[in-house]
Amino acid sequence: MGIDNYMSSIKKIGVFTSGGDAPGMNAAIRAVVRTGLYYDLEVAGIMRGYEGMIAGDFIPMERKSVGNIIQRGGTILKTARSDEFRTKEGRQKAYEQLKKNNVDALVAIGGDGTFTGASIFIEEFNIPIMGLPGTIDNDLVGTDFTIGYDTALNTVIDAVDKIRDTAESHDRLFIIEVMGRDSGLIALRSGIGSGAAFIMIPEMKTDVNSLLRRLETGRQSKASKIIIVAEGDDAGGAFHVAKVVKEKFPHLDTRVSVLGHIQRGGAPSCTDRVLSSRLGVSAVESLREGRMGEMVGIINGEIHYTPFKNAIKHISEVNPNLWKIVQILSV
Ligand code: F6P
Repeated sequence: MGIDNYMSSIKKIGVFTSGGDAPGMNAAIRAVVRTGLYYDLEVAGIMRGYEGMIAGDFIPMERKSVGNIIQRGGTILKTARSDEFRTKEGRQKAYEQLKKNNVDALVAIGGDGTFTGASIFIEEFNIPIMGLPGTIDNDLVGTDFTIGYDTALNTVIDAVDKIRDTAESHDRLFIIEVMGRDSGLIALRSGIGSGAAFIMIPEMKTDVNSLLRRLETGRQSKASKIIIVAEGDDAGGAFHVAKVVKEKFPHLDTRVSVLGHIQRGGAPSCTDRVLSSRLGVSAVESLREGRMGEMVGIINGEIHYTPFKNAIKHISEVNPNLWKIVQILSV
């Protein structure tokens, strides 16, 4: 079936969230559902991502189904990582469930794993799918910001501010680990925003030695310091970094704090709610226009479409201007 036929043939869309959850996913679900209804489409919510698709766990979505959720973290459709969908048999089952439920197009909200699965699904079954970038990691190509990133940053900033109070009172050095399995983007921005003395991210290959050199210059200083380490940094995590620091500078009162999954929860910020709303509307409109196999993002305030295969390319470089700011301001 060609793209033009899909334009006129979409009567029912399915929406699902997949992979790690992110604040703002509910706002995105709401936008997709209400835009679908606005254009007289039927909308099905698919529970637990590809897992629920395979199991036929579909629920009809009405205006009210998405009432009172714009402010809630997590995802009302729940989420999962599906091993079965990685198999041809699993994807065949998912396709059959879509046919059985008369779903003829999909909006997938998730990250790189979600879009990798969607790409293969399109190749095999020619199902129109558009994607929304839902991950706190901000590590997708084709959007300035992903859904959940801004909220996660604000959560980190709030936590670091609190840690700074106690660090300051005790003249302690705190090594704080933030999320980002393959990416330092949470560490980079939250580090700037919290006034960290040093930031360790995989993209800049910051190793423990560079931190030691930095601490050397203020060797006698027992003033409190905040060091932000990305989970995915090559340095081996906050506990390893702290061990090395303690060995070299035993006079420093060093503590570790791993912020963990609090970064994935909480009410989405206004920025995330607006981003999710814009992207959700565009995803449905773009399906109706015959687009498929692309992630909808916003670059410099404008909607952009990026093929899934390009969206999932890992971002290996950080904005050099931001890194320069780190160097200037952390002196
Ligand atoms: O959502 C992305 C992410 O937060 C990564 O930064 C982190 O490594 C991962 O999810 C952890 O997810 P989970 O605990 O669900 O496996």
